[in-house]
Amino acid sequence: MIIAIDGPAAAGKGTLSRKIAETYGFHHLDTGLTYRAAAKALIDAGLPLDDEAVAGKMAREVELSGLDRDILSSHAIGEAASKIAVMPSVRRALVEAQRDFSRREPGTVLDGRDIGTVVCPDAGVKLYVTASPEVRARRRYDEILLRGGTADYEAVFADVKKRDERDMGRADSPLKPAEDAHLLDTSEMGIEAAFQAAKAIIDAALNGK
Ligand code: CDP
Ligand code: CDP
Repeated sequence: MIIAIDGPAAAGKGTLSRKIAETYGFHHLDTGLTYRAAAKALIDAGLPLDDEAVAGKMAREVELSGLDRDILSSHAIGEAASKIAVMPSVRRALVEAQRDFSRREPGTVLDGRDIGTVVCPDAGVKLYVTASPEVRARRRYDEILLRGGTADYEAVFADVKKRDERDMGRADSPLKPAEDAHLLDTSEMGIEAAFQAAKAIIDAALNGK
């Protein structure tokens, strides 16, 4: 069983995916971390972010076992990740590793931008999780404050919009709902309500409905 969860930045994909994986005893992969790991490796090595051959080589060296959310969480790494994510050779390398992961038993949850459309088009359940840009920016902003940081809401909002444009506008694997995805707009939903809505969809699929 593969559960594919896609959607824009700060829609709540990660939070939902972790809860689902825990509930069903499935393995979880946040595929955004694979793009972040390749981006961090380039930055650490002092290599350019606009050379596709170099970035593709870094992407082939990413190890799924070494992905650490805390080390990869910075804003600069996220920005760099979304820049190299437009490169087909970077995507090819990371998608291959993600597909290998998706075959783990007894089941997997993968979250990202192109899981239902490109990485696992045959996934048993596809969810497209979204929320308005204002709500997503507010969630990001609250998260930064909660971690003791400082932020400007307008700047966070501008950032969310820029990330959306880059993710939806790229030629290779743009962010969009798969034709057979269930849409889940969490603008007015808390984490538990979003989880219950997702659970109902997954249970129906598991019971062959
Ligand atoms: O957490 P946040 O929403 O900021 O982003 P992320 O999931 O960590 O992903 C960072 C960047 O990687 C995204 O902006 C995408 O450009 C890219 N990405 C992608 O292209 N395809 C995926 N399956 C996952 C992430
Ligand atoms: O993975 P993605 O970037 O899509 O989002 P996330 O990191 O799972 O969620 C972003 C923030 O929104 C987290 O702080 C969640 O606790 C919060 N959230 C929420 O407030 N309400 C929801 N329905 C889902 C997430």
